[in-house]
Amino acid sequence: MLNVEQLRADTPGTADVVHLNNAGASLMPNVVIDTVMAHLQCETRIGGYEAAAAADARLEDVYASIARLIGAMPDEIAVVENATRAWDMVFYSLPLKLGDIVLTSTTEYAGNFIPYLQLKRRLGIEIVVVENDPGGQICMDDLRRKLQHPRAKLVTLPVIGTNGGPVQPVEAIGKEARQAGAWFLLDACQGIGQLPLDVQKIGCHALTATSRKYLRGPRGMGFLYVERDLCSQLEPAFLDLHAAHLRGPDSFELRNGARRFENWECNIAAKLGMGAAVEYALSIGMDAIWTRIQMLAHALRAQLRDVDGVRLQDVGAIQSGIVTFTCDGIDPDDIKRKLASLPERINVSCSTDTSTMLDMRARGLKSVVRASVHAYNVQDEIDALVYAINEISLRR
Ligand SMILES: Cc1ncc(COP(=O)(O)O)c(C=O)c1O
Repeated sequence: MLNVEQLRADTPGTADVVHLNNAGASLMPNVVIDTVMAHLQCETRIGGYEAAAAADARLEDVYASIARLIGAMPDEIAVVENATRAWDMVFYSLPLKLGDIVLTSTTEYAGNFIPYLQLKRRLGIEIVVVENDPGGQICMDDLRRKLQHPRAKLVTLPVIGTNGGPVQPVEAIGKEARQAGAWFLLDACQGIGQLPLDVQKIGCHALTATSRKYLRGPRGMGFLYVERDLCSQLEPAFLDLHAAHLRGPDSFELRNGARRFENWECNIAAKLGMGAAVEYALSIGMDAIWTRIQMLAHALRAQLRDVDGVRLQDVGAIQSGIVTFTCDGIDPDDIKRKLASLPERINVSCSTDTSTMLDMRARGLKSVVRASVHAYNVQDEIDALVYAINEISLRR
């Protein structure tokens, strides 16, 4: 059973704001802030390189923690700047060629879609979007059909889209991709820290994640998992003297393991902070976090449904902590601004069709309000949001 009071006591930001923007950047718990600050102070006192050397063992532990979180081995983990860079590092390293098919979903994030378009222009790959089933998640029959194409090489999609939508059936997708001999690259940016994700059960070849969202770590950090077998076959699209070493003036050797996808310079304080965030999530328990997030999101959706003029925009058999909605006749940005200007300072964000174009256009949406709950949120905060939305809606 979760101790919500303790979660809030661990999270100083809960005293200042009603934070319902965990899908943007969550509030960091004390242990993360203390870890980052302690390292920065150490850098101030003894020097950056010296502080990194002193933190050597704890830096190794970051890989072990992440591996434990997702059921991987530490040498299958690379620590990088964010989810996009993690995803790019794998995508641009796969030996894709003219005519190869990349299968994705309507919920794909623009930051991943743009690289598809670039490789379409550069190499002539084909982008094929798998249909949704009537419930709104990926249609497994259509995926199976499309995977039968001999040039279907890669399946890649977010487990949870940036503006909600379904929690995709990633274990079933992984099974189909493996059976068809395609790679499965899972974007877990909104999933990590929100729900349990085990790469062995999912069967993905690679998984990408960010620190600042549901994981509650510092900004400017993320990680990448690449399965050992695939990793040993991939030459990263970019290399430096950390990812490889010079054997002589004419040759270099790639580093073993997923760290070949890293680069040398890195925000050490934030890396340690992300490790602390992972340990914090593990100490609470991912099952307990996910159960509470679903409970809060369910309550929020139920209450919003009763507000005149509000339209919930979430689909899917399993829905996440990201609750999206529109309010008839009111610009989502106005709602966001009004909520932020209230004395209780309610933080939500807006998600636009520039982030998830296929999904939003198919549903005739330009922008939605995104209220994303985490385990430390409480019913009073949900009531405050719904009350405020009701007031805004009445004054429209
Ligand atoms: C589904 C999804 N994938 C990828 C990203 C990119 O993450 P980052 O900003 O850490 O690169 C986001 C960011 O919102 C996202 O929602």
